[in-house]
Amino acid sequence: MRARILEILRENRGRPVSGEELARALGLSRTSVWKHVTALRRAGYPIEGSPRRGYVLESVPDLLTAEEIRSGLATEVLGRQVEVRQSVSSTNDLAKERARRGAPEGLVVVAEEQTAGRGRLGRAWASPPGVGLWMSVLLRPPLPAPEVARLTLAAAVAVAEAVRAVSDVPCGIKWPNDVVAGGRKLCGILTEIEADWERVHFVVVGIGVNVNTPAAAFPPEIRESATSIRIEQGRPAPRAALARAILAGLEHAYRETLAGRFDGVLARWRALSVTLGRPVRILPVAEGQPALAGVAEDVDGDGALLLRLPDGRLHRVLAGEVSL
Ligand code: BTN
Repeated sequence: MRARILEILRENRGRPVSGEELARALGLSRTSVWKHVTALRRAGYPIEGSPRRGYVLESVPDLLTAEEIRSGLATEVLGRQVEVRQSVSSTNDLAKERARRGAPEGLVVVAEEQTAGRGRLGRAWASPPGVGLWMSVLLRPPLPAPEVARLTLAAAVAVAEAVRAVSDVPCGIKWPNDVVAGGRKLCGILTEIEADWERVHFVVVGIGVNVNTPAAAFPPEIRESATSIRIEQGRPAPRAALARAILAGLEHAYRETLAGRFDGVLARWRALSVTLGRPVRILPVAEGQPALAGVAEDVDGDGALLLRLPDGRLHRVLAGEVSL
């Protein structure tokens, strides 16, 4: 209900909406409208006015509340349930815990800060408070386990398109699923799966976007290779609007994938790719694995990179780190 009140106030920005109008639109009493408005004010929304004079939302602060994410969210499943935490070890871990206890598909876990954010290949993911979007989405796809990699590509497409929609940053996708801008990393995706031989129990797609991170907030070792939307465009971007755009894009791409139309998602991935068609080096990620050099020719339906080696052979790279 709070999300709906916010939505109406946002649509009428600058114009007071009376308690009676809100009550009528939402089928509530004026007292309960007032109670919701009081709770929204307590959560940090600058709502001026009274039930009689009407309520005005003075400005939309960059709050990552469940109401803010859900208000105006154009999805049917993703984000029907949103859990927001101030601080958590890792949103992926919390989402997995919820999943094991039967949480429904579409649960979204968001945190202002992660104290033990995890990246791919066993790395840490810097997640300072208040400036990023650290978000995990629970899916229960009726897919065979090998096809789950498709969802990571779908998520990368959703993030890159969402960043382009809410900012002026012309970002692209670096294989396998980093969203980059100006050659630096803006977003990483960590997809985790729990499955047995017969079926996939659940998938958690963990998305970390450096939204308003100032350069000084990155650990020194990634300061050269990481960036944020704010650094790239010189002004902050709204985190909740970005979350909504990502969820809407991911739900669409997820549906397409389940409906057997992954080709369309892959075509969008290719169009956003900054890797394809370029000479690349694949850095070894496991002991004993050689570094490879070649031209990144294509990705296949499993998300593997097809690398044209200097001797003309086509090599399929399943996991790794690309250096452009
Ligand atoms: C990468 O290494 O590129 C993947 C980074 C993924 C980070 C996100 S932030 C939200 C979610 N929770 C985590 O602990 N990791 C993912």
